[in-house]
Amino acid sequence: MSKIIALCNQKGGVGKTTCTLNIAAGMEKIGKKVLLVDLDPQAHLTYCLGIQAHELTQTIYDVFKGNRRIADVVLQLDGLAVIPSSLDLAGLEMELAGVPGREFLLREALGQTDNYDFILVDCPPSLGILTLNALTAAQEIYIPLQTEFLALKGMSKLIETIDTVKKRLNKDLEITGIIGTRYDARKKLNKGIIEIISERFGNKLFQTIIRENISLAEAPGYGQTIFAYAPKSYGAEDYLALAEEIVAREQPPPPASGRKRRKAYK
Ligand SMILES: Nc1ncnc2c1ncn2[C@@H]1O[C@H](COP(=O)(O)OP(=O)(O)OP(=O)(O)O)[C@@H](O)[C@H]1O
Ligand SMILES: [Mg+2]
Repeated sequence: MSKIIALCNQKGGVGKTTCTLNIAAGMEKIGKKVLLVDLDPQAHLTYCLGIQAHELTQTIYDVFKGNRRIADVVLQLDGLAVIPSSLDLAGLEMELAGVPGREFLLREALGQTDNYDFILVDCPPSLGILTLNALTAAQEIYIPLQTEFLALKGMSKLIETIDTVKKRLNKDLEITGIIGTRYDARKKLNKGIIEIISERFGNKLFQTIIRENISLAEAPGYGQTIFAYAPKSYGAEDYLALAEEIVAREQPPPPASGRKRRKAYK
């Protein structure tokens, strides 16, 4: 069965899309089959892959509207499978108002496919119907947190929403991963924030912290993952380490061959 993970934080610009894309690309490098789902009306993930979202005729929007099945809208790109977003998603909240079971549409659609090891869902920076669909479809939530002042601001609202979804829509849902992003070792504040996140979330915080890296900011402009754009960059190093950490955590090796590794961030 595919493991469905939603990358979620209603705070904007914390690295959700960068994480979703490059974790998937890292997983693909270590032999996993991954499906990416762009659930953001901004379609940043879609554009980051060099796909012109505004020119597409079949997207995740058509799946929500019941006009297309998942298999009809998946695009294959350099080993990655992606369901692109559409700017039309922005109106979905209104279009689905009053539709019974509207929170279950993505779960039902993704239930049609079992071809992947992981399905990663890039959520928009809001807690509306699209994020609710992601939380209802997912087994796990990863929360990217920028290692900056105010990183944890808004977390109580996010956790409250997740608790409500857990009670009413998806009892198996768990926050299983916190990803520290845009870490700058030169900034004392960044180190302090990592310590605070670590105290609050314990081993849910991935040991791999994603460093601030200019190549990560540049790659989307070329429609490339970090591995294609700058394979020797810190960004590529960090996302490969994170993908390995996730795969090891999700699919642990048999105990005899298990090996403990701690990545120190400097
Ligand atoms: N580690 C990093 N180093 C440098 N720049 C980064 C890093 N991670 C992300 N960025 C840049 O920061 C900006 C915001 O990142 P991203 O789009 O991934 O955040 P987001 O949480 O998906 O935003 P939104 O809430 O708008 O969907 C982008 O311009 C991205 O290229
Ligand atoms: Mg985004």
